Amino acid sequence: MPKVWVEQIFTDPEVHILRMDDDRIRYFETVWDIPEGISYNAYLIKLNGANVLIDGWKKNYTHEFVEALSSLVDPKQITHIVVNHTEPDHSGTLPEILKLNENKATIIASSFGKRLLDSFYGITNVQAVSDNQEVQIADRRFNFVMTPWLHWPDTMVTYMDGILFGCDVAGGYSLPSTIDDSNEKIVEEYLPYVTKYIVNVIGHYKNYIVEGVQKLSTLEIKAILPGHGLVWKKDPQRILQHYLDVASGVAKEKKICVVYDSMYGFVENVMKRVMDLLRSRGFELTVHRFSDESEAFVGDILKDIPDSRALIFGVSTYEADLHPKMRHVLYEILDKANYEKPVVFFGVHGWAASVEITVKKLLKDSKLRFISFVEMKGSKIEEGKIEQSIEQLLEELE
Ligand code: FEO
Repeated sequence: MPKVWVEQIFTDPEVHILRMDDDRIRYFETVWDIPEGISYNAYLIKLNGANVLIDGWKKNYTHEFVEALSSLVDPKQITHIVVNHTEPDHSGTLPEILKLNENKATIIASSFGKRLLDSFYGITNVQAVSDNQEVQIADRRFNFVMTPWLHWPDTMVTYMDGILFGCDVAGGYSLPSTIDDSNEKIVEEYLPYVTKYIVNVIGHYKNYIVEGVQKLSTLEIKAILPGHGLVWKKDPQRILQHYLDVASGVAKEKKICVVYDSMYGFVENVMKRVMDLLRSRGFELTVHRFSDESEAFVGDILKDIPDSRALIFGVSTYEADLHPKMRHVLYEILDKANYEKPVVFFGVHGWAASVEITVKKLLKDSKLRFISFVEMKGSKIEEGKIEQSIEQLLEELE
């Protein structure tokens, strides 16, 4: 049974988190492998004369959500429901809550969110707010800031008393063993899952991350309460900076990401030499490999792109094209992790070299900087070719 957390985070005003640890999910958005799971965080703010619910959970957990929420407030007593983002991992429980609430609450969303609530659930009685609009609820002022494409065009964040309810903004995968960022070890373990979440889910729109985070930097933020993962109370700026670093592709000095397929060991032989060379030059490699016995997760490969200095691919020729697994990886990198980073290819073919042209065509309009493609026939490795291409890469990195 997935774990449910109901905890008070602030006392004045009373802010409670309702967190569901989804450890049953395997493929976020039915595509990204997440054995680490993901949490859905909703929040309840109890004011003098008003109860404000921020977001919700995925529909599968409606029963658990109703139970958790009812432990804090009678759903009939909810006066306002804020829908920061309509993706059903946050809004799936909304129809049932509205039913229990007898549709008394004022629903607040962006104007795009209002349209999507109608198309998803037939909900039409929504108060649409505009960018920076302030709404007085009981004795508090709520400010709604539009952050389009973080992650959908409907997305906004809610700001009250220095607390930012970010929904997807500042979220991450995995199920941290604490509610907030007070434990450094937990934060350090968690941040790579944030990177993975950002690139998998929002990577396609990463320019909007920079825009959105810069917009939020004008607010005085004492805490960020996102829709997934850890609450940021100790150091909310840290997660915003992390989002910026990932979006901008800030690299670690010595990190290189290596991805390859090997059907019968020929590419593996080449890549062993490549990796030995790079390690002997002090580089730390993250290696993702497709073979007939194991498969890398594409979502994990994407996670390793933003903070790498360079990318190295080893590819088998398959029907005069890239191996299908590598074709898929490249496609996703170009879509989600299209950064200005140098890239080197090592290709192995059986009877005809043909992949270099395909790769160059694929990369033509991308930000990736093509350095070289070293082509080899079967087990024949031309003396000095690998060394030469690595030297060329290292000159590029200097
Ligand atoms: Fe967490 Fe875009 O939904």
